Amino acid sequence: MTDRQASRFIDDGRLYAPAALRNRAGLIDMLRDVLPQSGQVLEIASGTGEHAVAFAAAFPRVVFHPSEPNATCRASIEAWIAATGVGNVLPPLALDATDEIWTAELVDAILCINLLHLAAAPIAAVMRGAAATLKPGGSLVTYGLFTPELTAAIVAAATQNGLTPRPAVPMPDHHQALIFRLAR
Ligand SMILES: C[S@@+](CC[C@H](N)C(=O)[O-])C[C@H]1O[C@@H](n2cnc3c(N)ncnc32)[C@H](O)[C@@H]1O
Repeated sequence: MTDRQASRFIDDGRLYAPAALRNRAGLIDMLRDVLPQSGQVLEIASGTGEHAVAFAAAFPRVVFHPSEPNATCRASIEAWIAATGVGNVLPPLALDATDEIWTAELVDAILCINLLHLAAAPIAAVMRGAAATLKPGGSLVTYGLFTPELTAAIVAAATQNGLTPRPAVPMPDHHQALIFRLAR
């Protein structure tokens, strides 16, 4: 998360990303067709934490586990959890997508929002980690500004790791949600 993408909100550590405010309603609508009624959802590259608390409010029976390699972002996520008082968001994990092991327990779904179109984004690592961390039948949701070439690379890496693509979901501002399911 760069300074251009997020700026200090108020003095409690919360960061605010204008894009996260703009896209969260569309993301929630899309997730209604994907997330289970209840269960555990891991979010990688959570950024400010605004998505995690908004998703938690929209899906109150789902437990969200945000994660971030950046310590300032993790502090922001904790501040958003405290400020909103949501009870179904766990404290953020210090997780980098290239880590060998992501979580101790398997999860029902994984969210990867606005990571894979970054220049340094580790597509292969995300797909390997997601396949190792999802329960059988679980879903990986990726979202971003994907070119056709990037979409093909994401789908190829997912398929190599046993993740089956569902139809892509067009999103506002030329973004896309690419959703995959781990075989049962
Ligand atoms: C563009 S921001 C998106 C944040 C949030 N998902 C959103 O949409 O508002 C990208 C985030 O990816 C994180 N990031 C960068 N490299 C990463 C990696 N290898 N593994 C996990 N997160 C990473 C950054 O720290 C940053 O917070």
